[in-house]
Amino acid sequence: MKRVAILISGGGSNMVRLAEDMIDDHPARPVLVLSNVPDAGGLAKARALGIPTEVVNHRDFKGDREGFEKALISTIDPYEPDVLALAGFMRILTSEFVGHYAGRMLNIHPSLLPKYKGLHTHTRAIDAGDTEAGCSVHEVTAELDGGPILGQARVPVVAGDTEDSLSARVLVQEHGLYPAVLRRFVSGDRSPVLLP
Ligand code: GAR
Repeated sequence: MKRVAILISGGGSNMVRLAEDMIDDHPARPVLVLSNVPDAGGLAKARALGIPTEVVNHRDFKGDREGFEKALISTIDPYEPDVLALAGFMRILTSEFVGHYAGRMLNIHPSLLPKYKGLHTHTRAIDAGDTEAGCSVHEVTAELDGGPILGQARVPVVAGDTEDSLSARVLVQEHGLYPAVLRRFVSGDRSPVLLP
């Protein structure tokens, strides 16, 4: 059975979908939900699902990124995860951290990568006049939002869309895409999942 640690910063809806999928007929189990934000809504959801939680607050490190990442590693590694799934984890990670978990870290990003790396993806898609948007799950490498793409889901951009309306439509797709990619990934299958 593979062991999955999930890293969050906020509400954790993707984390919940990953955890709910990892029951019964699944080759992995969630062993940890970690947040860098002490009051992240997802922490209570993880506890309700019976998953151990940890907090490593980046604010305690006051710009000391190396110290923050060392604390992350020393908190995560006792749980012996095979895979780290970033699910709305809003800290940029250094190549040292990424290297420590090389080949076993995934991220979900709310755009059709390679378009719109970074923040404000939905506003940028609307402002560009794109007719479709979506989300991507990719392997994490040292390049921000730049690792190999393991799955994508597309949605239309419709007239009058706002950041809120488009992000809500994309989030529905995220909830289907991430569990599907994780299932394949923990089984050693890196062929991309393409939805719908
Ligand atoms: C999701 O939309 C995810 O794609 C995004 O944060 C949201 C987290 O929602 N991630 C990023 O923007 C990463 N750069 P959730 O906490 O409800 O899963």
